[in-house]
Amino acid sequence: MREPGSVELFEREPSLGAIDSALAEGRVGGGTALLIEGPAGIGKTALLEEAQGRAHGFVALRAGGGEFERELPLGVVRQLFEPALWRATDRQRERWLRGASEIAGSVLASILGSRC
Ligand SMILES: Nc1ncnc2c1ncn2[C@@H]1O[C@H](COP(=O)(O)OP(=O)(O)O)[C@@H](O)[C@H]1O
Ligand SMILES: [Mg+2]
Repeated sequence: MREPGSVELFEREPSLGAIDSALAEGRVGGGTALLIEGPAGIGKTALLEEAQGRAHGFVALRAGGGEFERELPLGVVRQLFEPALWRATDRQRERWLRGASEIAGSVLASILGSRC
């Protein structure tokens, strides 16, 4: 992985504008999703890394899906949350897995063992 924001991107102003808008919405408590698609080498990863570089104040979680991992249950969920949950304090973990997200605890418990 390159350092986020380390590559100067050419001709991506509309995409960067959409990323900035999504981040601005997130800063005021909104939620949004962006879909970045295109053929190999077009710059999807570079754009994601630029987005991560611009996401000051956010926690950025990353995961990638591969066709050989299709048989692995909840592979992307594990990639996204396992590292963060491992690093979290007991107090943080308890707070994150409360309420609507409580149901995820039963899945993640098998990953985290006694930590969850
Ligand atoms: N808009 C851009 N301006 C400059 N370099 C770019 C741009 N988009 C991609 N690149 C460069 O092209 C290469 C391939 O981009 P990458 O993000 O890996 O493509 P993808 O993830 O779509 O396969 C990388 O070296 C990346 O830094
Ligand atoms: Mg890529």
